[in-house]
Amino acid sequence: MSVGAGTALPPPVRVAGAAPARRAACLLLPVLLLAACSATPHRGRVPAVVAPASSAAIATGVDAWVRVRRSMVRQQIAARGIDDPAVLSAMEVVPRHLFVPRPHQSFAYEDRPLPIGHGQTISQPYVVALMSELLQLDGADRVLEIGTGSGYHAAVLSRVAGEVYSIEIFPALAERARATLSGLGYDNVEVRVGDGYGGWPEAAPFDAVLLTAAPARIPQPLLDQLTVGGRLVAPVGDGGWQELVRVTRRADGFDEERFTLVRFVPMLGEAQSDDGTEPLPQ
Ligand SMILES: C[S@@+](CC[C@H](N)C(=O)[O-])C[C@H]1O[C@@H](n2cnc3c(N)ncnc32)[C@H](O)[C@@H]1O
Repeated sequence: MSVGAGTALPPPVRVAGAAPARRAACLLLPVLLLAACSATPHRGRVPAVVAPASSAAIATGVDAWVRVRRSMVRQQIAARGIDDPAVLSAMEVVPRHLFVPRPHQSFAYEDRPLPIGHGQTISQPYVVALMSELLQLDGADRVLEIGTGSGYHAAVLSRVAGEVYSIEIFPALAERARATLSGLGYDNVEVRVGDGYGGWPEAAPFDAVLLTAAPARIPQPLLDQLTVGGRLVAPVGDGGWQELVRVTRRADGFDEERFTLVRFVPMLGEAQSDDGTEPLPQ
């Protein structure tokens, strides 16, 4: 198995009632990842889902991948302790295979990240679910995502929150994500090309901010764009593995919690020259 960005060191999978062979495989997968390297009604606005091939099929949730997605949610996500019903529901519905480049589509529901071009990846499904749950979203929340990539995580968030603003540094990835999202009817997601370091000041403040690329330290403008009570979830660190961190803005400062080790692509642009020191006065 290849090493990929957008993975976590996951808790062991509990597979109730699985056939012995399948149970063994499910228990083995996290170990391999470790060695080698996110159905209740959704809370956001209902996207008028229009699939390129069969809009009616996807609108009713009956595409050819429905059963595969259900077992992905059961075996990779719920079995590892994710229990936010809105997140589980979104992961069960969003057609991940349509966000993955064609040569990788048959692997879309596997327990690993996949390449999306430009040296970037779509994160492992469990990581998408975990980060989405940690954001503690409700249906009206406004979310900023840094790192649109394929647009998949933005689509998941759009079913759990009210509005999603997403920034991607590679124009070609942003264009493709925009096309996929609008083709599928996710009309509460806005994608912008740029360096997400400075956030999206015109749309701020946000109830939640998600970074899907790892900075060595969290950019201050992103913290400044949180509402009081707002949550920011990010992989933080400059090594091969980073810590998954949640920062909550309080009236008098910020609380920080640390979760698991994850492996993400580095945050590009200004984050790479941010050494945490204040600029010298001119
Ligand atoms: C792990 S991928 C994100 C996966 C994505 N959320 C998805 O669902 O496919 C990280 C993304 O962050 C982008 N990125 C890296 N640095 C960035 C920056 N400074 N501003 C905006 N996007 C950035 C990368 O180009 C890449 O597409």
